[in-house]
Amino acid sequence: MNNEIKIFNNTDELSEYLGNFWKQKIDELESNKFYSIALSGGNTPIKIFNYLSENFRDKIDWNRIKFFWGDERCVPPSDNDSNYKLANDYLLRNVNLDESNIFRIKGEREPIEEAKAYSKIIEANLPIANGSPKFDFILLGLGEDGHTASIFPHEIELFSSQNYCEVAVHPVSGQKRITITGNIINNAETVTFVAIGKSKAERVFEIINKTKVAKNYPASLVNPINGIVNWFLDVESSSRL
Ligand code: 6PG
Repeated sequence: MNNEIKIFNNTDELSEYLGNFWKQKIDELESNKFYSIALSGGNTPIKIFNYLSENFRDKIDWNRIKFFWGDERCVPPSDNDSNYKLANDYLLRNVNLDESNIFRIKGEREPIEEAKAYSKIIEANLPIANGSPKFDFILLGLGEDGHTASIFPHEIELFSSQNYCEVAVHPVSGQKRITITGNIINNAETVTFVAIGKSKAERVFEIINKTKVAKNYPASLVNPINGIVNWFLDVESSSRL
């Protein structure tokens, strides 16, 4: 597996690069095709979504994108903890995008039922490759504990679940989450970690350098079939490399 590492001076530069990457992929699409993106949650994407809203509103044909999520908190879409709300507030409602292109995880539903339902939605709306639904692009965050999506170290076995989605539990808050699993993550065309700030530097170093402790981190299990993991870092998060 190759780590393709890009180090940006700041989040705006990272966002500009990501916007142009998505623009190029969408401009290259065949006329009847969509580009599928699974978004991450947490705080890191806020600045990225804001920048894309302000600078790529008219540069990308947003209605050629189908938006999904890699994980969602089991809360209503109006809750400030909702990853859908975060993406909608800072990006989706600011660009020309039909509601029908947004496939949110319904955090307000019973978690086990929604994990099954979302698995079916992913299966119905993505091409199948290597026996599993295949995203064009999955955006992943990196937790300070080495989690990604909502697969946490205490439940690392969820990564290798045969299901496309699982119910996870946040180790501190006990909050239930719905998360995609390694089945889906490692089958995507492009998998990109975005890790910004000093607090991520140690984990980034350990995972990229495959240190002994890294095997405890779900993020270290990301190993896409095409063999490439992209890392969008800043000076601080890459400071140990
Ligand atoms: C979530 C995420 C999660 C997040 C990391 C990093 O729902 O919280 O999808 O995987 O990306 O926890 O979060 P920060 O960007 O806030 O550091």
